[in-house]
Amino acid sequence: MRSILVLNSKGGSGKTTIATNLASFYASIGKSVALVDLDTQESSISWLRARSSAKPPIIGIKGYGERVKRGVDYKIIDAPAGLNGAALTKVLNMAESVIIPVLPSPIDMRAASEFIKNIKKHSRVVKKKSKIALVANRGRDYTNIYWELDDFLASQKIPFLTMIRDSQNFIRCAEKGLGIYEMGPAMTEVDREYFEPIIDWLNSKRSR
Ligand SMILES: Nc1ncnc2c1ncn2[C@@H]1O[C@H](COP(=O)(O)OP(=O)(O)OP(=O)(O)O)[C@@H](O)[C@H]1O
Ligand SMILES: [Mg+2]
Repeated sequence: MRSILVLNSKGGSGKTTIATNLASFYASIGKSVALVDLDTQESSISWLRARSSAKPPIIGIKGYGERVKRGVDYKIIDAPAGLNGAALTKVLNMAESVIIPVLPSPIDMRAASEFIKNIKKHSRVVKKKSKIALVANRGRDYTNIYWELDDFLASQKIPFLTMIRDSQNFIRCAEKGLGIYEMGPAMTEVDREYFEPIIDWLNSKRSR
């Protein structure tokens, strides 16, 4: 089973958006998927509740207690904001691949700078048991702040995979319990193109 964690100490950076879109993508290609929601806000669980039963099923798991059953291909873990210390270690121990989304905002970049510094020193990352990668979220490449974020992420000496576009499609998906790979291809073509490097990384040996 692949275990993929979406993590950032900062709230609102896109953890749930990426976790639910990954879960939906793998389900849409016929994989058995568990979506583990570690956040007491339960945004991933409420996304699952909005999901039509006609769509490929995804197993929802709340919190740390429940075990993921055998035969699951992908375990996607949606982390809460504000994790540090022992709680951060506990969550990192659950994951082979870790995606860290960062928003193009000075406050988010400052917080991310500290968070990335800490996570790079974490024993699990140092020992290469968890592989980490960065993603710019809600990017608009005609803005100066996006290019500042791009420079910042590119200078971190860990993989910087892509920018996820700031797009209404993600809002619509959040509402309907869907992912961009389950919406009309024409409407989501560009968003998929930008999202794709995340899937490529997860498919590659670089992420395990
Ligand atoms: N690329 C995007 N384009 C448009 N809207 C987005 C995008 N990414 C996230 N959002 C929206 O921004 C808000 C915050 O995103 P999300 O819930 O994924 O962040 P989070 O890191 O899980 O937040 P929290 O720390 O509160 O759990 C949501 O309303 C979401 O729909
Ligand atoms: Mg969330």
